[in-house]
Amino acid sequence: MHESLVIIAYLVAAVLFILSLGGLSKQTTAGRGNLMGMIGMGLALLTAVLSDQVALYSWLIAAMIPAAIIGAVFAARVQMTQMPQLVALLHSFVGAAAVLVGFASFVDHDPELVGSELSVHLIEIFIGIGVGSITFTGSIIACLKLNGNLSGTPLMLPARHLLNLIILGATAALGAWFVIDHELSTGITILIIATVLTGILGIHMVMAIGGADMPVVVSMLNSYSGWAAAAAGFMLGNDLLIITGALVGSSGAILSYIMCKGMNRSFISVILGGFGTDGGGGPAATYDGDVIPIEADATTELLENAKRVVIIPGYGMAVAQAQHALAEVVRKLVAKGIEVRFAIHPVAGRLPGHMNVLLAEANVPYDIVLEMDEINDDLPDTDVALVIGANDIVNPSAETDPNSPIAGMPVLQVWKSGQAIVMKRGMASGYAGVDNPLFFNENTAMLFGDAKDNIDKINAALQS
Ligand code: TAP
Repeated sequence: MHESLVIIAYLVAAVLFILSLGGLSKQTTAGRGNLMGMIGMGLALLTAVLSDQVALYSWLIAAMIPAAIIGAVFAARVQMTQMPQLVALLHSFVGAAAVLVGFASFVDHDPELVGSELSVHLIEIFIGIGVGSITFTGSIIACLKLNGNLSGTPLMLPARHLLNLIILGATAALGAWFVIDHELSTGITILIIATVLTGILGIHMVMAIGGADMPVVVSMLNSYSGWAAAAAGFMLGNDLLIITGALVGSSGAILSYIMCKGMNRSFISVILGGFGTDGGGGPAATYDGDVIPIEADATTELLENAKRVVIIPGYGMAVAQAQHALAEVVRKLVAKGIEVRFAIHPVAGRLPGHMNVLLAEANVPYDIVLEMDEINDDLPDTDVALVIGANDIVNPSAETDPNSPIAGMPVLQVWKSGQAIVMKRGMASGYAGVDNPLFFNENTAMLFGDAKDNIDKINAALQS
C-alpha cells in the first residue's frame, strides 16, 4: 500500500475515533459512537496489515488468527458481572505489548539514528517500557482483586509513599544511565531491571488501594494503557497509535477525574496510589437491630399507590439480571400515571456506566434515567424509593462515619424519601464491606430474595 494512502487511511481512522468518543458521551448516540469506533479500528487494522512495514504475512496470520479466536470466545463467554475483570485484563495486554515493543525497538533500532535523535528514541523506549510495566502488573492486580482472588483490603506497608518515591528515583537514574550507556548487553540489563522495578511499583500502587476505590483505579489504568500505547506509537513511529493512545489516555484520565469527584476522592492521590486510605481513626461503625420485612405483594401495593417513584439500581440488579423484568414493571407503572425515574450513582455496579448499559439493554427510555446530582434533591418529595441490589451507594454512614472506607463519598439519600424499599437476598454488606444503617430505619422495608424473582412477582401482581 502506498505511503500516502496509509497516511490518509490513518487520518480517517483518527477522525472516526474522535467522532466515536463524541458519540459515546451521550446515551442516545452511544450506539453510533460504538459503530464509528469499530469501523475506525477495522480501517486502522487493515491499513497496518497492508502497509509496507509488514514483511512476513505468515507471522502476522499466526499471531492474529488465534488471538482473534481467543478474544471472540472470551468476550462471548464473559458474564456482564465479570466485565470489570475483563477490562482490567485487556489493559494488562496493552501494558505487556508496550514493554515488548520497547525491547524490540531497542534491539532492532534504526542504526542511522545518532546524537539527540538517538537519545530521544532511547527515552521513548525507556518511558514506554516503564509505563507499560506499571500498567501490566497494576492491571493484573486489579483484575485479581475484582475477581475476588485477592482481598479488597488495602495493603498498607510502612512508609509506602517513600517506597514508591525510591522506586521512581531508582528508575529515573536507570533511565539516565540507559541514555548514556546503551551498548546492547548493558542496555538490555538496564531495561530488564527497569521493567522489574516499575512492575513492582504497579503491584504496590494497586495493592494499596481499597476495594471501594477500585472503579477509579480501573479507569486510571485505562488511562495508563492509553499512554503506554502512545509510547509504543512513538517507538514505532506510528502516528495513528500515538493519536489513539493519547485519546485513550486523556479520556481515561477525564473519566477518572469525574469518578474522583463522584466519590469525593483526590485525583492527585489516585495517581500516586493508595488514596483515601490514610488517617482513618479506627474501625468503621457497625449497626444492628430489627429490620422491617416486606413481601412482593405489599411492595406492589405501595408502588401502585405512589405518585412519584425513584428506582436505584446497583450491583445486585446486574447479578440477578433483573433489568428486563424491571423495564416491564416501569412500563406498567408509567401507564398508570405514576412518575417513575431511575437514579444512577457514578459507581453503581462494578464498572463505569454499568447500570446505564443494563437499562439501555432493556430499552428503558433515556429521559427517565438521571444522574445522582440531578435527582438527589428530589428524593424528599419521592413517595417510594425502590433500591434494587444496591448497598454502598445508598449507605448514609458515608456522610456520618469518618472511619468508614466510603467516608465522604456522596450517596443517594434514599432515607429522605417517604418509604424506602431495599431488595436484596440477605443482610450481607456491599463491595466496601461496611454495615448499612439504612436497613434499620423506620421508613425502610426489606424485600428479601433474588432481585429478579421479586421483580417477577411484582410484575405478576401489577394489574396491567
Ligand atoms: P454493592 O454495595 O456491592 O451492593 C450490592 C448488593 O447487591 C449487595 O449488598 C448484595 O446483597 C446485593 N445482591 C447481590 N446479588 C443479588 C441478587 N441476585 N438479588 C438481589 N440483591 C443482590 O453495590 P452498589 O450499591 O452498586 O455499589 C457499588 C460498589 O462497588 C461501590 O462500593 C463501588 O465503589 C464498588 N465498585 C464499583 C465499580 C464501578 S466503576 N461501578 C467498580 C468496582 C467496585 P445480598 O448479598 O444480601 O443480596
